Amino acid sequence: MAPRIAPSILAADFGNIQQEVAMLNASQADYIHVDIMDGIFVPNISFGVPVTEAIHRHAQKPLDVHLMIQQPDLYLETFRNAGAEIITVHYEACTHLHRTLQAIKKLGAKAGVAINPHTPVEFLRDVIDELDLVCVMSVNPGFGGQRFIENTYSKVLRLKDLLTSKDAKALIEIDGGVNLQNAPLLLETGADILVAGSFVFTSSDPIATIAELKSL
Ligand code: DX5
Ligand code: ZN
Repeated sequence: MAPRIAPSILAADFGNIQQEVAMLNASQADYIHVDIMDGIFVPNISFGVPVTEAIHRHAQKPLDVHLMIQQPDLYLETFRNAGAEIITVHYEACTHLHRTLQAIKKLGAKAGVAINPHTPVEFLRDVIDELDLVCVMSVNPGFGGQRFIENTYSKVLRLKDLLTSKDAKALIEIDGGVNLQNAPLLLETGADILVAGSFVFTSSDPIATIAELKSL
C-alpha cells in the first residue's frame, strides 16, 4: 500500500504560509504535519495556536499536530479547536499517558504518542490498544533538517511486532530526517506515515518530491 505522506510545515516559508498550504493542498500529501515546540520540552520554540488556526483555515488536508510541549493536557482542547485532526503527545511529557489519550479521544481527535530516540517501543505495550498512531522520532525533537538516526529501523521492526502481537491497529509514523534514501527501508520495516520537512520544502519541486515519496 502506498505510504501516507505528512509534509512538516515547520520547513515552509512562514511569510507565504497561505501559498505553502495551497501547494500542499494541490499535492498528494495525506496530512499537514504541524510541529508545536514550547522551548521547554524541546530547546526551540516554533509557533502556536494562531498560526495553527491560519494553516487550518487554508488547509484541505487533515492537520497532524505534534505537540513537543510539557503538560500537553492543558492545551489539547485548544489545539483541537484550532483544527487538529490527530493530536500526538510525547510519551516523555505525560505522567498519566492513559488519561491524556482518553482526553484526546473525548475531543473527537485521533490519539498519537511520539517516542524520543532513547525511549523503547516496549514502553507503549500497555496503551497500544488505545492508540491511533505511534510517532517514532528518528531525530531528537526540536529542529528540522537533522540527520536520520539509523537505530530507527530496528525500533520500527519491534513496534510492528508489538502491534501484531497485540492485534493493535495504530499507524506507524516516522518523524525526522526522512528522505528518498531511507524511506524505502522504513516502509519495508512497517512504517505507514512518513513525515518530511526539509526534504520536501528545500527541493526545487516540492509537489514532485511529495509524489516521489508517495510512489514508493
Ligand atoms: C522535529 C520535528 C519534525 C521536523 C521534521 O523536531 O518534529 O517533524 O519538522 O523535519 P525534517 O524532515 O527536516 O527532519
Ligand atoms: Zn514532528
